Amino acid sequence: MLTVALPKGRIAKDTLEIFGKIFGKEFKFDDRKLILKTPNFTFLLVRNQDVATYVYHQAADIGVVGLDTLEEQGLDVVRLLDLKKGVCKVSIGMKKGEKFDLNKPDLKVASKMVNITKRYFQEKAVSVEIIKLYGSIELAPLIGLADMIVDVVETGATMKQNGLEVVADIMTSSTYLIANKNSYIAKKDEVLDIYEKINKVING
Ligand code: PRP
Repeated sequence: MLTVALPKGRIAKDTLEIFGKIFGKEFKFDDRKLILKTPNFTFLLVRNQDVATYVYHQAADIGVVGLDTLEEQGLDVVRLLDLKKGVCKVSIGMKKGEKFDLNKPDLKVASKMVNITKRYFQEKAVSVEIIKLYGSIELAPLIGLADMIVDVVETGATMKQNGLEVVADIMTSSTYLIANKNSYIAKKDEVLDIYEKINKVING
């Protein structure tokens, strides 16, 4: 029996479809239910930012979460497989036409991904003030809260429609199958079995 943490929304749907393909039956959460029990799996529907927490504490054996979120949270879990879904970039955005000049003093950067942001600027030895926001990040440069933002870009539509443009990319992200370190050892056969089956669906 494996417990699987899935992030609410499209990724959960895509992942359950993969399980459906593997086992030849439909896996579906009832209406507002957050738990789905089948003979071999218990699926948990959690917030995207909570997936790695469930897996890290072994409340779930495996989970599915974006690499961007894993990098931001830095929890010690096993990265098993790139599912190649939810592909996006973490990029720096500025008001269109503005110069990306890291020598400018007192730079302010707004982001919900403060750790990724901190690491990026530390590696460049640039000191910036990081302003933590929880969403609608694109607003920050428009009203002068920050000079630039670090945010997820998927289609680029949000930046474009708000008069921003990407000035640099920090990382590419996609969803990963992850495992708890102890489960990976204690339930190795089960974890590797599902890993191999998912890998087959993803990579043929
Ligand atoms: C993410 C991200 C951008 C948008 C990018 O926001 O923070 O705002 O998606 O997608 P696009 O390039 O396809 O326009 P999300 O929908 O997760 O909401 P939030 O950041 O406001 O929580």
